[in-house]
Amino acid sequence: MSHIAKKFKLTESEAMDSSMLICFKQGAEGRIFKTNYLGKEVLVKERFSKKYRHPDLDKVLTKERITSEIRGLMKCRTAGIRTPAVYAVNSVQNQIIMELVDGKTVKDVLLVLEQNMKHNNISTEEDNDYEMSVDEDSGDEEDAVDSSEVNGKIKNKQSSVPPTPVAPSVSEISLSNDDKTKAQTFLSNIIAYTGEINLSISSDRESNRGKDSEKSNQESGNLPTFQLSKDELFNLIKLLSLQIGQTLSTMHANNIIHGDLTTSNMIVDRNNCLVLIDFGLSVIKVSTEDKAVDLYVLKRAILSLHSIFSRNMFDWVLGAYRRENKKQAEAVLKTFAEVEMRGRKRCMVG
Ligand SMILES: Nc1ncnc2c1ncn2[C@@H]1O[C@H](COP(=O)(O)OP(=O)(O)O)[C@@H](O)[C@H]1O
Ligand SMILES: [Mg+2]
Repeated sequence: MSHIAKKFKLTESEAMDSSMLICFKQGAEGRIFKTNYLGKEVLVKERFSKKYRHPDLDKVLTKERITSEIRGLMKCRTAGIRTPAVYAVNSVQNQIIMELVDGKTVKDVLLVLEQNMKHNNISTEEDNDYEMSVDEDSGDEEDAVDSSEVNGKIKNKQSSVPPTPVAPSVSEISLSNDDKTKAQTFLSNIIAYTGEINLSISSDRESNRGKDSEKSNQESGNLPTFQLSKDELFNLIKLLSLQIGQTLSTMHANNIIHGDLTTSNMIVDRNNCLVLIDFGLSVIKVSTEDKAVDLYVLKRAILSLHSIFSRNMFDWVLGAYRRENKKQAEAVLKTFAEVEMRGRKRCMVG
């Protein structure tokens, strides 16, 4: 057991039997439960073993992921980034017991906004040409978030130097106080919405992107609708993007590489504060290359799941990333261009 995991180890009487817990999310790597622990509602993240892996390797990888997760969560907290508090670790059942954040994932917020755009007949047609120029393949989200492949598979340096992405200027990413207040109010309304957000829209899109829009529209019937103008909607996305860019810049300045930056791994809490989660693939590294790949993974995730907003959203993320730490941003964005070029080459080669 690692030093970090030991610090949070549960006694036998505190250990939880997962058969008694109610599972509310199941991913490829594990299950998420809600339960009570020491009088508080908490979240339990349990990693299960993968049968296709050799049991010894599986054990090592599972422990490594748990250690990385705790380390990432804690390092971020120390750096002033909001992450769930870790309460305990159950090393027998590979569980982390952590703070249950009351909020919505950025993915859900964006889905609500997209649905509202459709509902209010707001078009982003003039914004969509960018989407095509940066995303030449039709990869799914899994493809979008596979940073290890980007790192490992394509090592060839390009002969020509790719253009460094130009992050928008400070004036382009600023929001007037009035617009900011309005955007925050809309965001709070979305976060406070207590109904279920129908995730079948996104899972539908992940598996069958663009082929089944009629079904998606029907399934989206239970999403909350708000009267938002196009400007108000984009101000809200700007508000979110700026928080994301600023948070990631601080995270990278502290040499924390998240490893799986997607909009499902970011939660907006009841105070409209961005909370980062899911640090199982995180590493602590100075590497500019890893920071660039982190951003590239996020860009691909946004393009893949929220293509309608991608043009503005990622630019604003980069703008805030740069505003927060110009020196770091210049180096990371330069490498980002190379990573992106390699990513495209990979798509063409297959
Ligand atoms: N601490 C938390 N508070 C509230 N919701 C959470 C928390 N951790 C995870 N979740 C929810 O569970 C989902 C899956 O958790 P995550 O840690 O991302 O695991 P996975 O490895 O399966 O992606 C998240 O997208 C989020 O909706
Ligand atoms: Mg996740």
